[in-house]
Amino acid sequence: MCGIVGYIGMKDARDIILSGLEQLEYRGYDSAGIALFHQQEIKIFKDKGRVSHLRDICDFSFKTGLGIGHTRWATHGEPNHKNSHPHISNSGRFVIVHNGVIENYKKLKIEYLSNYEFYSDTDTEVIVNLIEYFSKSYSGREAIRRTLNELEGSYALLILDKEEPEQLYIAKNKTPLIVGAGESGITIASDVIPLAGHCTTYTSLNDKVFGVVQSKSFQLFDYLGNDLSVQMKKFNINNEDFEKGDFDHFMLKEIHEQPSIIRHLVQEYFDNEKIAIPKKILDCIKSSTKINLVACGTSMYASYMAKYYFEKLCNIPSEVFVASELVYSTPLIVDKPCFIYLSQSGETADSIAVMKKFLAKGFPSIAITNSPNSTMAELATHHLNIFAGKEIAVASTKAYIAQVVTCAILAKALSGQKTNLKNNLNKTAMAIEKILEEKIIIKNLAKQIFTASDVFYIGRGIDYWVCLEAALKLKEISYIHTEAFSSGELKHGSIALIDKDVPVLAICTQEGTNSIVRSNLTETIARGAKGIVIAMESLSDPTDDIILPDVAHYLTPLVSAVVCQLLAYYVAVLKGNDVDKPKNLAKSVTVE
Ligand code: M6R
Repeated sequence: MCGIVGYIGMKDARDIILSGLEQLEYRGYDSAGIALFHQQEIKIFKDKGRVSHLRDICDFSFKTGLGIGHTRWATHGEPNHKNSHPHISNSGRFVIVHNGVIENYKKLKIEYLSNYEFYSDTDTEVIVNLIEYFSKSYSGREAIRRTLNELEGSYALLILDKEEPEQLYIAKNKTPLIVGAGESGITIASDVIPLAGHCTTYTSLNDKVFGVVQSKSFQLFDYLGNDLSVQMKKFNINNEDFEKGDFDHFMLKEIHEQPSIIRHLVQEYFDNEKIAIPKKILDCIKSSTKINLVACGTSMYASYMAKYYFEKLCNIPSEVFVASELVYSTPLIVDKPCFIYLSQSGETADSIAVMKKFLAKGFPSIAITNSPNSTMAELATHHLNIFAGKEIAVASTKAYIAQVVTCAILAKALSGQKTNLKNNLNKTAMAIEKILEEKIIIKNLAKQIFTASDVFYIGRGIDYWVCLEAALKLKEISYIHTEAFSSGELKHGSIALIDKDVPVLAICTQEGTNSIVRSNLTETIARGAKGIVIAMESLSDPTDDIILPDVAHYLTPLVSAVVCQLLAYYVAVLKGNDVDKPKNLAKSVTVE
């Protein structure tokens, strides 16, 4: 989704903003722009395309310590020059960048701005002109406050006022905005990454907060204009966390980090052989009669594994809900459920909307995220960290593995039984290392797939849930139409899709379903499909394509998923796709 970077201070604002926007590229975007204050003027450079293009069109002949920048992921109006941010008010006094969606912008336009000209299709242009409208009767700051009180929707805003060259304004509602302070200035961004190297302390803004930022200090206010106290946290994130190192892509680097993430989770959540999950989280779940898991995308597929663990390892009935559906269609809620939200970013708008809805109804919530400072972590009753480290590639890999491992540990802790999980997880980390060492086999398999226009994954039980994630991974970075089927369902209709040479990949890791999945695969081969088998060593045939090292039967998704991640990666590379920044996608989906 859109990215925002602003800077005021002694350093070169253009440099910090352009580099910061590059660091936010992983979020997904289609246009980029920057506004720089220079000698009482605000100079704007913007266009459709990458930040590298913005660098090409930006004027480097002057230096300034104040500017705001933006990468846009189109919501209102196509990606082009006129819709790119920054946007400017009719008189040229105010300049704004915006991340989010204003729901009542049409109404505001009719109510206040009938005399204004609009040059773009965006909702953002309404905000900047509304500020100008109020500024005719009030100070810049008061005009901004009044505008914010009119807005409905989500936004992170940075605003420049031509009459105030010593400061910039910021505001936030339902979309993240972080303010970082360092010796030589203040950096504001949608994510902590652009703050690295410039800040020693930082704070994440709460909803409905606005502020005035100067080079050495900033003040925050609520929408009534009351001063708010600010709690700064120590900034201890390194630049290396955001670099690819020797890997060609972040996705490949993140896939390789998975064994060490599993070991890290073991370290974090085991005290010798005993599981050390905070008691308040265990009590919260134990005092409920059902677990409702809520998530989107890959996190939702990890939730299916969590459901399996909660039901099989500790007998707690569990159900998985797609956040974007649950927010509008409330199911019948009986007994005493507890809600568990899985989210890598902790900023997914659909999941946040559900969390707010059910918190308001009094149901406790546990956020399992990779981002302890995220909106979801802060809103939830309890938070559990998955310790995956920053995930940059849009296609989630290590967060999936970390979510599944965290939920397995949580379920074992809830069961209260003696467990061999620690040992099993260490064995699984070694099994993944073996897969990574032999990844050439998967690279070769990718050559059989990359020209296909349709691919199918089939499996049963936990293998089917991995198929769902495997299909999502392949389609999001290779752009090949991929479907996951429970192999038993194929003959009830979908087998009609099977054609000559369509790759059908069967995941076979479970003793109870191995032979039936294989016979379902044979049915597709009989109709012309190219059958490919990914099987556990102990269940394998000599002709199988990928053999997975044996691990505990309930941890097999951790190894089969890694094979599917690598396969998606190599197929996307063979197709020449932008693996880390696939088209149309965004890393944090901060709009509903
Ligand atoms: O940050 P979250 O885990 O809440 O994100 C949910 C989905 O948007 C995310 O998993 C998405 O499906 C990824 N692109 C999958 O690779």
